[in-house]
Amino acid sequence: MNRFWKRIWIGLIVLVGIGLSPITSFAQIERDSLAQTPPMGWNSWNKFACNVSEDLIKTVADAMATNGMKEAGYQYVVIDDCWQVKRDDAGNIVADPKNFPSGIKALADYIHGKGLKFGIYSDAGTKTCAGRPAGQGHEYQDALQYAKWGVDYLKYDWCNTGTRNAEEAYTTMSNALLSTGRPIVFSLCEWGTAKPWLWGKGIGNLWRTTGDIGDRFMGKDKWPDGSCCQLGMADIVDLQAGLETFSGPGHWNDPDMLEVGNGGMTTSEYRAHFSFWALLAAPLIAGNDVRSMSADTKEILENKEVIAIDQDALGRQGRRVWKQGDLEVWSRPLKDGSRAVILFNRGAAEAEVGVTWEQLAYPGHLSANLRDLWEHKDLGSFAGGYKAKLASHSVVMVKVTP
Ligand code: GLA
Repeated sequence: MNRFWKRIWIGLIVLVGIGLSPITSFAQIERDSLAQTPPMGWNSWNKFACNVSEDLIKTVADAMATNGMKEAGYQYVVIDDCWQVKRDDAGNIVADPKNFPSGIKALADYIHGKGLKFGIYSDAGTKTCAGRPAGQGHEYQDALQYAKWGVDYLKYDWCNTGTRNAEEAYTTMSNALLSTGRPIVFSLCEWGTAKPWLWGKGIGNLWRTTGDIGDRFMGKDKWPDGSCCQLGMADIVDLQAGLETFSGPGHWNDPDMLEVGNGGMTTSEYRAHFSFWALLAAPLIAGNDVRSMSADTKEILENKEVIAIDQDALGRQGRRVWKQGDLEVWSRPLKDGSRAVILFNRGAAEAEVGVTWEQLAYPGHLSANLRDLWEHKDLGSFAGGYKAKLASHSVVMVKVTP
């Protein structure tokens, strides 16, 4: 090849390279541009496990559209495991014809008709955790199918993945979803084993940081097969300390779905649960039967002042700023320069918990206005800090505005 043609070839290669590079970064910008605030919605698993049907999902959507949840910001209605039964001869995933006789497209249309969004579940392995057909080897085919059905959100689990590399597996599915051209929020459910917070940004919009939540305040519980463990709410909170720098708009740490209203905790424990998820900028995915909520459950899930903390536009996850035994203080910076603060008593007896403004990175001499986000009450102006008496297993959540 003479020098002239060599130069032309090199020029062409460089031009193609320049032309392709925006495609790669475009895909990343696209992924991170979804879920600018933590996703809010409902998922079937915590309450209904494998007992899912179109009737259940439709009646849940009906309830959410009218019971104040949609108005409070809950958007995604997500069917978890067990909607799928097999693949057809062409390899297409098939929904259970008994429980979903109208098909998934009709269900998505119904949910969209309520002004809500529709989410579905699959898994990066050969089978889902409940043993249903999963996505490995069918990523692009499934992504197209989901897009055709009108899916807005995909939760992608990690069972039966063998020796698969998590980053590779989730990248493949993320790209498959992006290639459909439909904005589909991608929820990585890898349980934190491969530290998805280190590589998940640009691949997923949220990633589970731990094993599954159990409906109890504290204490781990072994799975029926003897492996470890379903976690209590406060155990999960502990595991979030230190992960705060990895989360932000479009890429959130996910400490698992809410158990509020499922009956295993007291009202004050559920308030603590919801307060922490908001302070942690966690996805707020209700997991109870929202068609028949008690007044207390509704008041927690629809507390607009606490939801506003979760959805704050700065998108900074809160962190633990003080701990002594069973007493803790957590703080989250907000867009307007104020702080959301949780005083937490995880002990068995009543105790006093205090916060100083210096712990919140404010000058100590400052006077700040306090608002109690559960009492919905302005508490007045305080210099230097604030103290409160807390019942066992409870929080006080305040907004501190200098
Ligand atoms: C795993 C997930 C759960 C749920 C089940 C479904 O345990 O972590 O959230 O999706 O699978 O089988």
